[in-house]
Formats: sequence, structure tokens, C-alpha cells
Amino acid sequence: MEWLLFVFISLAVAFIFWVAVFVVFPLLMGASYEVTQDDKMKKMIKFARIRKGDKVAELGSGNGKLVIEFAKLGAEIHGYEINPFLVLLSKWKINREGLKEKAFVHWKNFWSVNLGEFDVVLTFQVGYIMNTLEKKLKREARKKMRVVSNNWKFPTLKCLKQEDKVYYYEINSSNK
Ligand SMILES: C[S@@+](CC[C@H](N)C(=O)[O-])C[C@H]1O[C@@H](n2cnc3c(N)ncnc32)[C@H](O)[C@@H]1O
Repeated sequence: MEWLLFVFISLAVAFIFWVAVFVVFPLLMGASYEVTQDDKMKKMIKFARIRKGDKVAELGSGNGKLVIEFAKLGAEIHGYEINPFLVLLSKWKINREGLKEKAFVHWKNFWSVNLGEFDVVLTFQVGYIMNTLEKKLKREARKKMRVVSNNWKFPTLKCLKQEDKVYYYEINSSNK
């Protein structure tokens, strides 16, 4: 009977660990994992108007889908992701696509990254962080920053374009 108890406790510990790593921790920091659908991604690409040499940041880069597509368009893109398994998967995909010179995924909490050097910021996060994220972007933007948000609006920034819950903003010296 002891072995049964051992198996039960092991499964319970594994389950608690899984919930902590994949549900609770990401929710404290931002959105839980969900992939941007193709039609939304096309709109994000359209709004971002990538020019060669643009530096792009993706806040919570998930499985690397957008990182890869934006790198193919000629951007230098840096994805920041807290889930280490998604980081590994993204790196493997980037390698497979031969995009190692253009696409970078960092195992990092995006709240600790200064975003001032980026021309474009992509986000698909969650409603309750948008106010704090808006303040961070306004504080850190050093030049005109194009911001594309999937699914969630910023509270006070003026939305310049909007389609199917994809929102486009610009941050510059006049609206800081
Ligand atoms: C809704 S998913 C979006 C994934 C990807 N951007 C996409 O559009 O397919 C949000 C992602 O953000 C990640 N995330 C949440 N908070 C984060 C944080 N503070 N720093 C880095 N990544 C974070 C989650 O792990 C998850 O992969």
C-alpha cells in the first residue's frame, strides 16, 4: 500500500508544480499561453509596417510564431518569454528556419527589459496589465514607437487603427 501512497503524492506534487509553472506564475506576470491566430497575425503585420532594419520586441513570444514571421519580413526581432519550454521550442524553430541572425528569443520577464531601443512593440497580453504596460512604454520610448496589441486596448493611448480587436498605437514625444 505504501507504494500507492508514494505514487499518489508524486502525482500530486507534479500537478502542483505544473499548475505553478504554467498557470499561476505566468498569470502574475502577464497573460497565460495562447497562440495568435493567422488572421490576427496578418493584421498585426499590416499595422506594424515593417521596414528593413526595424528593431521589434514581442512581449511574451509564446511558441515563436510571430518572431519567425517578423524576422522573415526583415526585422530584427527579440521575443521575451518567461516559459522556458516555449523559449526552447522557439529557438528550435528559429534554427530550423535559418533565422538565427534575425530572430532572438530570450528567457526573460519583459517587465525587466527596457524597451526604449525598439521601433515596434508587439503584445498579446491581458487586460489587467494594460495600464501598467502603457506607463512602461511611455516612460521608456526614446523615439517614435509603433505598438500593436492583439485583443487588448491600452486605457488612455489614442488608438490610431483598429481591426478585429487588433489595435495600433504610436508613442512619441507629443503623447507621452
Ligand atoms: C497570450 S500568449 C501570446 C503568445 C504569442 N505572443 C502569440 O501571440 O502567439 C502570452 C505569452 O506571454 C507570456 N508571458 C506572460 N507574462 C510574461 C512576462 N512577464 N514576461 C515574459 N513573457 C510573459 C506567456 O508565457 C505566454 O506565452
